Amino acid sequence: MVSEPRMAVDLGGIRMKNPVNTASGTFGYGWQFEGFFDVSLLGAITTKGCSAVPWAGNPAPRLAEVDSGILNSVGLQNPGIPAFVEQAGEYLQGLRDRGCQVICQVAGHSLGEYARAVELYDELAPFASGLEINISCPNVSQGGAAMGATPQAAAEVMRAVRDRTKLPLVVKMAPHDVSEIARALEAEGADALSLINTIPAMAIDIRSRRSRLSRPTAGMSGAAIHPIAVRMVWEAHKAVGLPLVGIGGVRTGEDAAELILAGATSVAVGTANLTDPSSAPRILAELTDWVRDQGVADVNDLIGAVEC
Ligand SMILES: Cc1cc2nc3c(=O)[nH]c(=O)nc-3n(C[C@H](O)[C@H](O)[C@H](O)COP(=O)(O)O)c2cc1C
Repeated sequence: MVSEPRMAVDLGGIRMKNPVNTASGTFGYGWQFEGFFDVSLLGAITTKGCSAVPWAGNPAPRLAEVDSGILNSVGLQNPGIPAFVEQAGEYLQGLRDRGCQVICQVAGHSLGEYARAVELYDELAPFASGLEINISCPNVSQGGAAMGATPQAAAEVMRAVRDRTKLPLVVKMAPHDVSEIARALEAEGADALSLINTIPAMAIDIRSRRSRLSRPTAGMSGAAIHPIAVRMVWEAHKAVGLPLVGIGGVRTGEDAAELILAGATSVAVGTANLTDPSSAPRILAELTDWVRDQGVADVNDLIGAVEC
């Protein structure tokens, strides 16, 4: 009889029963998917980015389908952390009690906003297993460049938040200069890193000669960015000792396995949730089959096991 492989992983203090997670902004607050599958089967979910106060986001249209992916310019619309806790807290506490870890995402436009958001989660969200700091948010005082676009800027965000909570902090990196930024974040006390966020892209309606979204550029996600994600996870894994969440175009267990071999401890499903809401548990089953097929007793033995 072939025994079941061990699938549990430790994401910087967030103990997940398996590596499968969901990418922020593609899985709502979790309860929206309960009609499709038992969300507690997953190792963790990551909730939509929330800020201290509500953000309106960008005007419509905010999504455009392109070959092998989508462009989005949602602009981090959210109701603010107190309203998020009010709307989703009870469900998320129940989900955590059912064995699925809950990672809450932090958004901010300035160091002060990040610090306040972390304090609010720490005070109001006892269901949070950890926080994910999204350092791709635009910095309003710097013309909209990502808050964590350079190693120095990423380190400043980390310094602003690290002492505001004892919860594990995962940092969602902007897709720039991965190795240097990862080292800066490790030095400032990040517990884990997640990558990649969307890649800046553009789609034009050739009849109207206008952008297909309300803004000229938007973030590309989906199958097309998967090989970029594999490369960036591999680079981050070589640069730091922190556990990583691999994100980008994961549609199958095979895609998830590639990210694990590149160095990811956890793998998050994003755009695939929008095209097939039952993707995540299918990917978990396929990933478990792959670990078994590799003849390995523990998924941890495959993390970073690519041979180049
Ligand atoms: C509609 C939409 C909303 C998103 N919102 C967020 C967000 O709030 N915070 C964040 O860090 N990433 C956000 N992302 C990026 C995803 O979390 C993920 O990093 C990216 O889509 C790449 O993964 P994928 O190719 O599997 O979708 C969003 C992506 C999409 C498609």
